[in-house]
Amino acid sequence: MRHTQNELVIKSGILTRRGLLSAAALACSMLVGLSACERKEAPGASGNAAGSAQAAGDEWVIGHYGSLTGAQATFGRSTDNGIKLAVEEANKAGGVTFGGVKKKIRLVSDDTESKAEKAGAVVTKLITKDKVICLLGEVASKVSLAGADVAQPMGVPMITPSSTNPDVTKKGDMIFRVCFIDPFQGQVCAKFAREELKVTNAAVLFDQAGAYSVGLKDEFVANFKKMGGKIVSEQAYNEGDSDFNAQLTRIREAKPELLFIPGYYTDVANIARQARKLGMTMPLLGGDGWDSEDLAKNGGDAVEGAYYSNHYAPDQPSPEIEEFVTKYKSAFGSVPDGLAALGYDAAKILFDAMERSPNPTRKDLRDAIAATKNQKCVTGTISLNDDRDAVKSAVIVQMKGGKPVFRASIAP
Ligand code: PHE
Repeated sequence: MRHTQNELVIKSGILTRRGLLSAAALACSMLVGLSACERKEAPGASGNAAGSAQAAGDEWVIGHYGSLTGAQATFGRSTDNGIKLAVEEANKAGGVTFGGVKKKIRLVSDDTESKAEKAGAVVTKLITKDKVICLLGEVASKVSLAGADVAQPMGVPMITPSSTNPDVTKKGDMIFRVCFIDPFQGQVCAKFAREELKVTNAAVLFDQAGAYSVGLKDEFVANFKKMGGKIVSEQAYNEGDSDFNAQLTRIREAKPELLFIPGYYTDVANIARQARKLGMTMPLLGGDGWDSEDLAKNGGDAVEGAYYSNHYAPDQPSPEIEEFVTKYKSAFGSVPDGLAALGYDAAKILFDAMERSPNPTRKDLRDAIAATKNQKCVTGTISLNDDRDAVKSAVIVQMKGGKPVFRASIAP
């Protein structure tokens, strides 16, 4: 008997797809039970109509999986707001044409609780139950890595707005990003430390279980050394730790002129406070993971004057940014952070690709996303390279009066 591409079959008690053990199929069987996985259309729908239910419905359904609660909650909420703004604009204009058919967009947003172990189930649900044509998400690299493990074998395109770890898009040809990657971000931070802050001796404190943190630390260290700098102390922590005194005391003994912390805002605020308490007054530098209004809320004076690299700055001189900040403020009553800008850009890139798809299939949508070139967006001009990554500038901001202030833009 021949099996169609999307048919799932049972072989020697193991759920398989075309005879291949598939993590997605297993996730699907665990989540929705075998009967849902046995249907011919879902969940693969890789080449044919983008799910027959989808094609027959009167809306194009897109999914956002994000940290709407938990330790990185501001990441998910800002991203979701940015996506919502783009969806609202598209729907006001009558919807988006996909494979020649114009329909309104319906966004389904689901919470990963900032946990990588939740990503598989959330993504599986968006694909099998909501039958999304494309996924937007996640922010944190380790959550995106887990989500991509499901999206890729199920044949559903995924665009992460903001995961910068290089391994995310290496998961396969369905996985894209609209942000730069950490080898570039690490270089930007090292260059700023060496050339602008004129630092020779630096220390690093990183989250040893976070793909993003470890990757960015490695890139910073390699580049800083290449540029003639010296790393005098390298210390590790685990996300959610509350006491950093042991590591900070060791760092203090090494007398660095700068402390680089490639972590997320909750931990960074705690680290900064404890460092200042220990009398450590050196400048602090970090990456995009600091980008949250909670950094200043929780870090207070301890983060004042600190620097971090990011994808955009709301006060950066650019007509696209000005327009976006005004629209976002009137919709949500706050200044958009980098995540909001990237969520908006990711949705715009998706809509543009839908308009260019010859047919309303996930396969054609994938090819159209891959062909994205020179799209003028809020966070810069987006072109996707052969690795499905965006190549674009980074900015350095400095915390002043509790707010990130534009300091420099660094081109690749
Ligand atoms: N780049 C971070 C990661 O990959 C996520 C992030 C992006 C956080 C932008 C804040 C702002 O994990």
